[in-house]
Amino acid sequence: MKGKNIILGVSGGIAAYKTPQIVRLLKKAGANVRVALTASAGRFVSELSLATVSGEAVCREMFPPADIPGTDFTRHISLGEWADALVIAPATANTLARLAAGLCDDMLSACFITLRPGKPVLIFPAMDGQMYRSASVQRNVATLAAGGCTVFEPESGDLASGQCGTGRMADPGIIANRIGAALQAARPDSLLAGLQVVVTAGPTREKIDGVRFVSNYSSGKMGFAVARAARERGADVRLITGPVHLETPEGVERIDVESACQMHDAAKPFYPICAVFIAAAAVADYRPEMPYEGKLKKNEHQMQLLLVRNPDIIAEFGAQKRTGQLAVGFALETSEGLAYAHRKLDEKHLDLVAFNTYDRKTSGFEVDTNSLTLIDRNHRETSLPPMQKTDAARMLLDHVEQLIAAAGNGETER
Ligand code: PMT
Repeated sequence: MKGKNIILGVSGGIAAYKTPQIVRLLKKAGANVRVALTASAGRFVSELSLATVSGEAVCREMFPPADIPGTDFTRHISLGEWADALVIAPATANTLARLAAGLCDDMLSACFITLRPGKPVLIFPAMDGQMYRSASVQRNVATLAAGGCTVFEPESGDLASGQCGTGRMADPGIIANRIGAALQAARPDSLLAGLQVVVTAGPTREKIDGVRFVSNYSSGKMGFAVARAARERGADVRLITGPVHLETPEGVERIDVESACQMHDAAKPFYPICAVFIAAAAVADYRPEMPYEGKLKKNEHQMQLLLVRNPDIIAEFGAQKRTGQLAVGFALETSEGLAYAHRKLDEKHLDLVAFNTYDRKTSGFEVDTNSLTLIDRNHRETSLPPMQKTDAARMLLDHVEQLIAAAGNGETER
């Protein structure tokens, strides 16, 4: 955390009394901390305490009185631009709603909106348990998480209301550790910074007729997590995605497609210019040869559908990539998977393949977690335990960075 600039946004809940301790821990770790306090937060924690421990004036008013000489009238922008991370602790139901709605009427919300793309936002909701479970709070949490914020589930225990339930803010030590981990993952010194990265995600739909298609269960979660993680590391990311219900990660350029052929057409222009191509999409290998224009009528007892091969996008990129370009694929199998993944690595000229199984509970399609085995171009395997797809994406990118570093050291490439 040494030398990192952190904004601590404090909103008005009883847990605000813990925030001077968070500031102390961040300062002790070498960070520069500025505190943005909402109007109601000032009723739970003193501005003087926070200013004393941070060594900086606390920001409350977006526009301080005009008669103060030397006042910075652009600080509602400059503070967000200064920050390496924004932490909101505690985040009340009201603050979650204001951030999710994009309001910008105090320093905390202004910092949220003006933070540079890719900088981590860590949100620690804290409130009464029933409030936290309410449909509106859950909707706002989901909106913020889909927008790339990391929202931490509050802890369970005694609440200020006298009840026991989920709603407590984590201890300052835990919060400080999570901030340290997020800053490390964001790594502005990443070897991916400034590189062009293309990610494919989601399923493809192959038309049978005007109302039916062949597809698969891919939700796009894994590919979107990879795109977001690459953006966090400063890469210039194009995300080519089949039909999914996910928000575009902040700062990522998204290209929507439907079929494998459309995904292929969208990807091709990037073959010569991208540094890394990561294929997380579940692309249909075949498509109906002659999709029917309108809706097919049923008449016979049987119907035969003739399928033809689709272009293999990552294999095509792998076959024509130049020295220094990296091709990263995924492999999903239900049996004999690992051996098959090793074969794909060679057949598709990949530099790295992420093999995942499909167990419907912890790995593969739709779920939020994945268990990956990463196989590098020398067929070395690294097995990762089941983890959130966001974390799995970061581990994958750590391996990609190792390959970039190896290329820089003149090690052999495919
Ligand atoms: O989207 P989620 O619900 O989060 O699920 C994630 C996932 C399971 C879809 C993802 O982790 C994954 O494994 N994606 C690849 C699944 C797959 O189609 O594997 P495959 O073995 O058929 O293909 C191997 C590789 O070739 C993949 O990188 C694939 O993107 C690529 N491919 C395949 C066919 C094709 N025509 N073009 C391709 O680029």
